[in-house]
Amino acid sequence: MPIINRIAEFHADMTAWRRDFHAHPELGFEEFRTAEKVAALLTEWGIEVHRGLGVTGVVGTLHGAHPARDTGAGRPKVIALRADMDALPMQEENDFAHASTVPGKMHACGHDGHTTMLLGAARYLAETRNFAGTVRFIFQPAEEGRGGALRMIEDGLLEKLPFDEVYGLHNWPEMPAGIMAMRPGPMMAAADLFDITVSGRGGHGAMPHHSVDPVVVASQIVTALQTLVSRGTDPMDNAVVSVTRIHAGSAYNVIPGEARLSGTVRSFRPETRDRLEAGIRRISEGVAAALEAAATVDYRRNYPPTLNTPAETDFAAGVATRMLGEAAVMRDFEPSMGAEDFAFMLERTPGCYAWIGQAGGGGGCMVHNPRYDFNDEILPLGASYWANLVEAALPREVA
Ligand code: NI
Repeated sequence: MPIINRIAEFHADMTAWRRDFHAHPELGFEEFRTAEKVAALLTEWGIEVHRGLGVTGVVGTLHGAHPARDTGAGRPKVIALRADMDALPMQEENDFAHASTVPGKMHACGHDGHTTMLLGAARYLAETRNFAGTVRFIFQPAEEGRGGALRMIEDGLLEKLPFDEVYGLHNWPEMPAGIMAMRPGPMMAAADLFDITVSGRGGHGAMPHHSVDPVVVASQIVTALQTLVSRGTDPMDNAVVSVTRIHAGSAYNVIPGEARLSGTVRSFRPETRDRLEAGIRRISEGVAAALEAAATVDYRRNYPPTLNTPAETDFAAGVATRMLGEAAVMRDFEPSMGAEDFAFMLERTPGCYAWIGQAGGGGGCMVHNPRYDFNDEILPLGASYWANLVEAALPREVA
């Protein structure tokens, strides 16, 4: 099960699509041009296209050429493959020919490559249809913080276009091309957001005794929050509390009336997540009260942890191993404290999210870097993984 020759034959086409997406980045829920191109290509290959889920989401549905047994749900087995389409609000610093043509927007996470690899697989599978069952190609919007996967689910994805298993794939620039990695259980962390408003009493900077200084209170809160992980979390567990923003004041000699703190919380275990949220409230309110100020906490649970199910992860690792060899597939890759909205799909459907290495080409730097680029060399590899996965998950019956 090596790289599929037929897919390698249209490597040049895939490279052209990928560079076209790269040159025309679109932010979450605004992927109109990208969705249009994806839908046009799928339609050209005879794939049924469903649009409008999650604003710009596109789902292609393709049935295998071989008879498939009913799974008991009144239909044959359905496998879903998911790619993300959105870019990031940042300025590209590359100057190659396919660099972003849109100021302040950039494909710095490789979603242009993800979309292209899934298109490559769709084209091959539409030509061959050498499987029994149904595959759905999910092109989702707004992975970067806006929850496009959840939006598609809220718009009825699972009811309108049901599937039994779902798989995701993301490039990982720190891993060489030709390597894949996954693990059962947590792949990525839960990501939450918080805003803390500290209310004091403003006054003259030279006469602090007339005021309650919210800058000093906020500083104590930042310091005390550090204990939530360092002292309050099991050292064998993993969690992060980062205060990433402090806003207060407007002049050298004015003590402001208010200070605002914001940040992010990462965790894997539900009980850790609950404890960190409660701890942020308790410390903020308690420290403020002790210093004669008041604090209000707005805590928002954003993405759940990305949890791979064991059977589907083992299956996906097997597909990757038959393609790349035992030594090239890391089956117990360390989880990342980053987050991924594919988690919303995995919360509801068994499946596996995997990393595909891409170092050695492209921009050669980590995702979200202004010099990042997707490595076009791995396009046939990723597309072959998808195609092999479908043919393995939906094998034709042997009479
Ligand atoms: Ni990404």
